[in-house]
Amino acid sequence: MISETQGKYIAAVVGAGPAGLYAARQLALAGIQVAILNRDIKPGGVAEYGIYPNKYKIKEGLRNQFRQILAMPEIKYYGNVSVGQSGDITLDELRALGFQAILASVGAQGTKWLNLPGEELEGVYHAKDIVYHYNKLPPFSKQEYLVCCRVALIGAGNVMMDIAHWLIRDMKVNEVIAIARRGPAEVKFARKEMEYVIGNFDLEAFDAEMSRCAPVMQGVGQDVQAAKDYILSALPRALEPISKTRFRFEFLTSPVRFLGDDMGRVIGIEVENNTLVSEEGETRVHGLGKKRILDVDAVIYCIGDKVDMDFGLPVHKNEYVKNPEPRFPVDGLSYEVYDPAVGKAVEGFFLAGWSRKASSGLVGVARKDGENVADAMLQYLRTLPKVPVESPIINRLEDSLKKSGKEIVSKDDVARLVTVEQAEADRLGLEDYKMETNEEMLAAIGR
Ligand SMILES: Cc1cc2nc3c(=O)[nH]c(=O)nc-3n(C[C@H](O)[C@H](O)[C@H](O)COP(=O)(O)OP(=O)(O)OC[C@H]3O[C@@H](n4cnc5c(N)ncnc54)[C@H](O)[C@@H]3O)c2cc1C
Ligand SMILES: NC(=O)c1ccc[n+]([C@@H]2O[C@H](COP(=O)([O-])OP(=O)(O)OC[C@H]3O[C@@H](n4cnc5c(N)ncnc54)[C@H](OP(=O)(O)O)[C@@H]3O)[C@@H](O)[C@H]2O)c1
Repeated sequence: MISETQGKYIAAVVGAGPAGLYAARQLALAGIQVAILNRDIKPGGVAEYGIYPNKYKIKEGLRNQFRQILAMPEIKYYGNVSVGQSGDITLDELRALGFQAILASVGAQGTKWLNLPGEELEGVYHAKDIVYHYNKLPPFSKQEYLVCCRVALIGAGNVMMDIAHWLIRDMKVNEVIAIARRGPAEVKFARKEMEYVIGNFDLEAFDAEMSRCAPVMQGVGQDVQAAKDYILSALPRALEPISKTRFRFEFLTSPVRFLGDDMGRVIGIEVENNTLVSEEGETRVHGLGKKRILDVDAVIYCIGDKVDMDFGLPVHKNEYVKNPEPRFPVDGLSYEVYDPAVGKAVEGFFLAGWSRKASSGLVGVARKDGENVADAMLQYLRTLPKVPVESPIINRLEDSLKKSGKEIVSKDDVARLVTVEQAEADRLGLEDYKMETNEEMLAAIGR
């Protein structure tokens, strides 16, 4: 009989983005055996497939840390495995294999639409797909996104700025119009991200837009000059323009519907002017009913994402449901999955990162969330008996994945792939080289 001290705890981490990887590290440091299952062949999530491709230093720094995490002996990696209702293995199956705690750190893979008429037209896209496309995540890497002349971006956050960056410096389209429902004082992007595109900014149009918005802003006590100064604060470090793209904002404006041609392609967007009102201590947006048409040939929603609704966890609005009275709170936050239908926590299931709070924060925030959830999971695991050191759970998982017929990618395979891609980057004289299909990647690791 194996004693309590000879046993071990075993957890599954679903999703190898920053939240899942940093959680796995904390768990491994506490001696927990961890199996990471990841949809993509490579680890890193949006850090690999979202952060702007030319941010080589940040990306390489993160990749190095992720490699070190995967190399930990307590951690097993199963890449190219999709978990969920229609995946290679379901959450219930994972649980039935014997994993004592399961972390869902799968990011926010659902697409948030506004359900406006015409959204189905060709040329109306979502930022997530485009970001995956230019970061070369299969299958988005090989999909075509038709952007050429006038592109409307809905939203005023950092994702909008990344997409503007791509349209202006890579695609070199004629015009980019960022449509923000709020005014210039409530943009969500960082000055640093504006530096890439402010060289293409139409300063005259911006002045006119500021004058148009000023009375509304003053009406809710916003500082017009401070807002203007913030947006223009990127000017001294503006990158030299490399395209003739005209970049401008339409503030206090919301999309109402999209117009299409006979071929089903978007040709315009009807927008409504907004005003701002102070209500219950908040600044809220109210439509004024005054509508106008903007001629565009592509629209890209940059309004954040929602979680994957079909993953197999209870959902409310755009998020997985968290236990409102967590048994193991960390920093006052709940990391536990809750089933409102039965009014109870879903025993052993945890959330972190963008799966806990969709589209919220930088990698550092996801990392902290991963570390916190590991803390919550450790508290939970310590309430359970250990499993024997020689427990067959990992063998059962591997058998089950084999039966799914999928090519499973191990951490050694990932290391091999990195070497092959690095050699190709060196051969081509590039900072970075990425294979664009799963088939290429699998072939590179000898499948
Ligand atoms: C366009 C964009 C640019 C960004 N740029 C920056 C930046 O420059 N600097 C910065 O600090 N932050 C940046 N961020 C934010 C940062 O990327 C996120 O904070 C972070 O990636 C969230 O981590 P996560 O682990 O919660 O989710 P994700 O990074 O989304 O990782 C989720 C992981 O789960 C896996 N997965 C998904 N579904 C399944 C499934 N069904 N089964 C198994 N695995 C699954 C995916 O393959 C992925 O590996 C950016 C975000 C975006 C969208
Ligand atoms: N370079 C970087 O560091 C980088 C790059 C990309 C992303 N990120 C991070 O990733 C996270 C997500 O970024 P994000 O840009 O998706 O989110 P975000 O910063 O929250 O911005 C979302 C934008 O969409 C608007 N929006 C949301 N719902 C809307 C709706 N229903 N109708 C109209 N507009 C709507 C928001 O307007 P309201 O303000 O009115 O809600 C806001 O302008 C952020 O933390 C961001 O900093 C960082």
